[in-house]
Amino acid sequence: MRPLLSTVILVLAMVLSACADPAQGRYGADLYGVTCARCHGANLQGGIGPAIGPGSNAAAGLSDEQIRGVIEIGPGAMPSFRRLDDDQIDSLVAYLRERQGR
Ligand code: HEC
Repeated sequence: MRPLLSTVILVLAMVLSACADPAQGRYGADLYGVTCARCHGANLQGGIGPAIGPGSNAAAGLSDEQIRGVIEIGPGAMPSFRRLDDDQIDSLVAYLRERQGR
């Protein structure tokens, strides 16, 4: 293959893989791990974002609908995750409820 062509293909492959959304095709715990854990902690204990595990405001004070809204809107310093589809958001709410013991 000509060197220029292989360079172009290599650069394209790098750009495409950088754009690939790690959330794609993931649900529940898996999805939480790649999209939420860096701010809310692997055990929902909080970090950059507030704790959302057992005993937290999210466990006691927020309805399922409100949690969906938080994920879609991204209040304050939290980014919006509107790009997730309904099934993915449902799976996150179910995962949080399971971990919260609710
Ligand atoms: C870049 C960091 C960041 C990421 C990633 C992130 N969050 Fe947040 N999250 C925050 C911050 C900061 C807040 C507090 C926002 C505010 O109200 O000012 C928050 C708030 C919340 C709340 C409401 C907590 C409460 O007590 O009101 C929930 C629920 C929540 N996040 C769930 C998630 C879920 C589920 C994901 C993954 C889809 C996620 N977050 C990804 C930073 C993040």
